[in-house]
Amino acid sequence: MNSSAKPVVWITRKLTDNTMARAAQKYEVIDNPEDRTFTGDEIIELSRDVDAILPSHSEVIDARVSAALSDRIKIIANHSVGTDHCDLKALGARGIVVTNTPDVLSDATAEIGMLLMLGAARRAVEGDRMVRTGNWTSWSPSFMVGTQVSGKRIGIIGMGRVGQSMAKFCRGFDMDVHYFNRSKLTPEREAGATYHDTLESLLGVSQFLSLNCPNTPETIGIINARTLALLPRGAILVNTARGVLVIEDDLIEALQSGHIAAAGLDCFQVEPGGNPKFAPFDNVFMLPHIGSATRETRDAMGARALDNLDAFFAGKEPRDRVA
Ligand code: DGY
Repeated sequence: MNSSAKPVVWITRKLTDNTMARAAQKYEVIDNPEDRTFTGDEIIELSRDVDAILPSHSEVIDARVSAALSDRIKIIANHSVGTDHCDLKALGARGIVVTNTPDVLSDATAEIGMLLMLGAARRAVEGDRMVRTGNWTSWSPSFMVGTQVSGKRIGIIGMGRVGQSMAKFCRGFDMDVHYFNRSKLTPEREAGATYHDTLESLLGVSQFLSLNCPNTPETIGIINARTLALLPRGAILVNTARGVLVIEDDLIEALQSGHIAAAGLDCFQVEPGGNPKFAPFDNVFMLPHIGSATRETRDAMGARALDNLDAFFAGKEPRDRVA
């Protein structure tokens, strides 16, 4: 890159008009108007012609891809808070800077958490289908009775930014918030929530359980037959974090036995696609990984990713550097 030329940035997916317009001011942008997904080999190939990549979590930059990226790549400025699609160690070893977009998607993701919790507890799948298909033929006080959310106890695994937003919204429903986290929060951040220093202790009291932790070696499969059995009978599970946190066959068994009353899932082991084994369960309310999918949040994610790129190319430390 000669010093007067604009850096070349590959924006791997279709982002908001505001993001694309701002990017074009400072960078020579390679875009993806068809919004297609790229394979690892394509990422390696395309990396030859660019100084930076602005990917989403749909682009998997694992150890193999990281090792084969062009030497020209200086920074990967993710348009996501999660960085589990990137091998941070391998990228760090190559001296490639990696950033993410924390904070700006917490409320949007927690909104989806609330929607899933309410939808699962109040039988949204069944009710919607009944009305939509013209099968709503009677009403009585014993009809479509669900589980009340307000006033209940919620356990939150992972009290980072999204977990704290979830707790904030739950307080609006008069819920008693409990949490398990790597460390206890300050009283200000806790805002009245009760800390559990073991997962087991949290599970034992959680009438609702919300997963808000990242995908790490410690959290993969954290929800499994053993941990599900520790929840009170009739508990409701909500996952807006990552599909790999849940052993899906174990959840299906717990739903079949009735130990878990319902689940709200925005994340699956296989994405896109989800798990067709959940389809027969009316008490599983599912969405296609849309936690951060609001116009406002997409703009904010784009701005945050570009702030990180701008800082890097101005010779400064990007605010959200993770590797
Ligand atoms: C994130 O930012 O990690 C969300 O899952 C969407 O990409």
